[in-house]
This record gives sequence, structure tokens and C-alpha cells, in this order.
Amino acid sequence: MDLATPEQDQRKSISRLTRLMARSLSIVWQSARTPFLALIGLQLLNALALTLQVFAVQLALTAVLDISGNPGDLWRLVQPVMLLAGLTAVTAVIASVQVGLGRYAAELVVAVMWKRVLRVATRVDLRKFESARFYDRLQRVQATALTRPYQITHGLVATVGSAAGSAGLVIAIVLVHPGLLPLLLVGGVPVLLTSRRQSQLELDFLARQTQSMRLRNYLTRVQTGRDEAKEVRAFGLARNFGTRLDTLYADYLRDLAQHLWHRSRLGVAGSLGSAVLLALTLFLLGWLISTGRLSIVAAGAALVAIRLLASQIQSGLSGVQAIFESGQFIDDLDGFLTLAPAAEGGSRAIAPPADFRRVRADAVSFSYPGRSALALQSASIEVNQGEVVALVGENGSGKTTLAKVMAGLYEPGSGAVRWDGVDVATFRPDLFRERVAIIFQDFVRYALSAEENIAVARPDHEIDHAAIREAARIADADSFLSALPAGYQTPLSRRFVGGHELSGGQWQKVAIARAFYRDAPLVIIDEPTAALDARAEYELFSSLHEVLRGRSALIISHRFSTVRTADRIYVLDHGRVVEQGTHDELVALGGQYAELFHLQASAYSVDRVMD
Ligand SMILES: Nc1ncnc2c1ncn2[C@@H]1O[C@H](COP(=O)(O)OP(=O)(O)O)[C@@H](O)[C@H]1O
Ligand SMILES: [Mg+2]
Repeated sequence: MDLATPEQDQRKSISRLTRLMARSLSIVWQSARTPFLALIGLQLLNALALTLQVFAVQLALTAVLDISGNPGDLWRLVQPVMLLAGLTAVTAVIASVQVGLGRYAAELVVAVMWKRVLRVATRVDLRKFESARFYDRLQRVQATALTRPYQITHGLVATVGSAAGSAGLVIAIVLVHPGLLPLLLVGGVPVLLTSRRQSQLELDFLARQTQSMRLRNYLTRVQTGRDEAKEVRAFGLARNFGTRLDTLYADYLRDLAQHLWHRSRLGVAGSLGSAVLLALTLFLLGWLISTGRLSIVAAGAALVAIRLLASQIQSGLSGVQAIFESGQFIDDLDGFLTLAPAAEGGSRAIAPPADFRRVRADAVSFSYPGRSALALQSASIEVNQGEVVALVGENGSGKTTLAKVMAGLYEPGSGAVRWDGVDVATFRPDLFRERVAIIFQDFVRYALSAEENIAVARPDHEIDHAAIREAARIADADSFLSALPAGYQTPLSRRFVGGHELSGGQWQKVAIARAFYRDAPLVIIDEPTAALDARAEYELFSSLHEVLRGRSALIISHRFSTVRTADRIYVLDHGRVVEQGTHDELVALGGQYAELFHLQASAYSVDRVMD
């Protein structure tokens, strides 16, 4: 994957860090301003407490030295010790408040971020979903959406806090004795070096394993998924997928072991380095004291400051690392959210008419992103008010694509769809889509109640129980929906308590009921008959004109028994309209339609003989 290289290249760059910091800040600022400001406030308070701790140590040591040999003066210790204890308590309280506040802020970021992502995901041009880059990006945002906001928030707070804390400690130590500054800086060096190297190792490891992690997640999902369960058993896929997963895990664990070994070696080296430096520092301090250059008090304060500074640096680095690790996520999120303006539909503000006399696809061409072949080539069809028009053609001839263009889901590359001569591209897209009821070949089976499964066709209307029943009755779904345990309120999924599964044909009828429930002048149904038995199909389509009540329909079907009742039939072949006319005209023409019709008719008569 191309993730590893850019990340590795840019990892060291300060400019990337600056940019990521700024982006993180703006993300957190926009979603969780108040808790974030409170967190920063706490960090500043914490920095102040750290700084004061150095002075408190100084006071305490002075007092200890003053009273040495004078046990009666012990009371003089009370004040500095109380101060020290108080400051320590303050930092402890800050740390625990911060955990809760950080969690709350991160959840706010998650909520606001999802709201923005979903706004774009549900409005962006449908074609985008055919682009691997777009979809990958969305998937990556989704996969890490719960953890990254935590990292970002923590990263920002830790970085700001450690910067403030370090600055405070440096000031404190300079005030104690300016000559100690170099010592302070040297003391922080080993932690700085090893932590930096450790973060680098961690990032390399993550980049290296991203791809494998995704594959592992996928293989786990396939083996636990409800939809996949039947195929996994029927094909006996468990062994194959299991072995693949085992191999991936073995590789991962080997890499992880090596990585952890490197990390602990570094950790040990860092600690040893720190210990050596500490020993040297002690010697140096001792020497400074012995030569009268430094008081014991100042030396003690310096030691405390050095230890505190080391922990500040460590926490700052963990913050920077968290921001870096979220880099890909921030890029993906930004890349995704910038799609928003294109999703708003621009200046197209014309409201479409409530009805039409003629809808026409006029020499429409279309190609899917990343595919050179045209899915539609100058295809023209028309549907007049009240007509039932059929679209036939072999698999892959472009029927579904044409249906989506007619419904305003894809914009044609050239040509236009016109309503009474007006290009639908000039209509406000959302309003235009409301004028079309399209039922896809692969319609969605919502894990909602039966009633809601039909009501989704008019999401902005209050649920009209009578109209839903009527639509279900027309689609021949009322009988089995009423018979469900809780009637129309039964959830249509076993995922929920009291849920009930429908058969493929029953689901198809529910989907068709959606088309009738949506009050749109143009109804498009893509292969509605695939799952219907012959009787159900006959009953539905023989009365279609009647139940449409003046609405127009475009029906895509392979079954000629459905198609022959249509007012007009278009035959698609490789994205072109090659024949058109009524059933009788097309049979008489003796072309592709006639050939397919005779093929099916003879197969059908054989079936009947065999019955
Ligand atoms: N999402 C897609 N991305 C890329 N190509 C597609 C996509 N959907 C369909 N196609 C291609 O477009 C052509 C027409 O497909 P489609 O309209 O689904 O045909 P039909 O519905 O007639 O079976 C086919 O060659 C198909 O491979
Ligand atoms: Mg299709």
C-alpha cells in the first residue's frame, strides 16, 4: 500500500507535524471547545504546580538544614512540607480530572466528526462510491473513528502541557541557580533520544502492519458475519480462511515480537543512559558543592527539577507520537470533508414540476470511474405519462445504469435526461430525486419494522398507516405482513428480539410496496420479478396500469411474461438501444428480442411438459 512510504518520508518533517497539530487543534476546537479549554487550563495549572514544587523542595531543604541539630525547631518544617504535599495533591487531582474531561472531549469530537462525515457520505455524488480511493478513505475513517479522536485530544493536551511544564521547570531552575541550566538540559537528553527513536519504531511498525491488519480484520469479519455464515458453511471456507488468518497472525506476531524486542532494548539503553547521567550529575553536584560553587539546597532542587523535566519530555513526546499516528486519519478526514461543497448541488435551484407529460433520456452516455468502456452509449428512451415501459437486455448491457441516470443518481457524461424538454440537471437534485421512486435490483433490507421498511420510501412524511397497508396490498405483501407475530410492527430481522425473516420473494414484494407508497410520478423497478414466482408476477403486472393510477413506470425485467404487457420495450445491448417497439412489433422484427423471446418461450414450454 502507498501509505507506508509517504508517512515514513514525512514523519521527520517538522512541517508535517506543525500542519497536523494545526489540523488537530481545529478539529478539537470546532467540536469540543469548552472541555478543551478546560483541559488546557488544567495543564497550565499543572505546569505552575510543577514549577512551585521545585521552590517547595528548596524551602524544605533550607528548613531541614536550618534545624539540623535542633530537634526543637522541627515545627519550621511544617510549612514547606505542607506546601510540597499540597502541590503534589494538586497535580494528582489534575491528572484524574483530566482523564474524565479528556474522555468527554474526545467523545464530543467523535460525535461532531461523524455528523460531518455522514453529511458528506450521504450527499456526495453516487459515482464516488465506485472510486476505490474515495471508498478506501471512507473505510479508513470509519475503522479508526473511535480511537483517533482520543489520540488527537490526548496528543494536543499532552504536547501543550509538557511545553508549559518544561518551560516552568527551566525558569524555576534558572531562578534557583543559573549555572544549573546546562545540567538540566543534559539530564533530559537520554529520554529525549530514546523516546524519539521508540516513537519512530512504533510508527514504522504501524505503517508496516496496516495492510495486514486490514486483511486480518476482513477475514475475521467474513467468518463471523451473519450474511456470510451460510456460504462459509456451504463452501467449507472455514479451513481456507482460517489458515490464511493463521499465517497472517504468525507473521504479525513474529514482527511484533521483533518490534517489542527492539523497543525494550531501547528502553533499557535509555534507562541505563539516564542512570549513568544521574550518577554523573550527582558527582558533578557533589563536586560543585564541595568546591563551594553550589549550595546543598540548590543541588537538591536541581535533582528534583531534572526528574520532573524528564517526565515532562516523555509525556510531550507521547503527545507528538499520538498526533503523528493520527496523521493518516486527519488526512483522510480532511480529504473526505472537502468533498462537501460538491455535494451541495451548487447553484441548481429550480424546483422540478410535480408531474410530466414525457420523460426522455436523450442520447445519454455514461462511464464508471476508472473504466474506459462506456456503460451507456448514446442511449435514448422515453416514457410518457401513464405508460409502462420495459427495458430488456443481457447482463451487463447497461439497464441498471440507465435506470440510475433516469433517477438522477448519476449525471450522464453526455446527453441529458429531460422532463418535458427541461434538462433535469437544472433541477435541485434532492427535489428531483423525490419525483422518482426507484427500487433497485439489490434493494436494502432494513433491519426495521415491516411498516418502516415501506415507510422509508417517504422519509420526510409522517407515517401514514393506511397508505402503507394499501401499498402493501397492491404489492401483494399485506397478507403475509399482517400475519407476522406483531403485524406491521414486527422487525424484519432476527437481529432484534421478536424479529422475523422474510423469504426472498416476500422481501421483493415489500420493496415493490415502497415504490407504490412513494408518491412519485415516475416509478422505476429494476428486475422485480427475479425473486417472484410466476403467479405473483402475473398478478402484479397484469394490473400494473391500474395500480399505478396515472403514474408512469420503467420496468427492467428478464421475464417476457412481464415485458410483453408493456406499452413499449427498449432492448439494450452493450449500452446502446438496439431495438424498440411493442412486444408484437419486436417479435415480428425478428431481431435480438425475438431471438431471446423464442429461447425463453421454448424453455418455458419444456418446463411445463416436465411439470
Ligand atoms: N459500479 C460499477 N463500477 C464499474 N462498472 C460497473 C459498475 N456497475 C456496472 N458496471 C459495468 O457497467 C456495465 C453495465 O452494467 P449494468 O448497468 O449494471 O448492467 P445490467 O443492469 O444491464 O446488467 C457493465 O459492463 C458493468 O460491468
Ligand atoms: Mg442490472
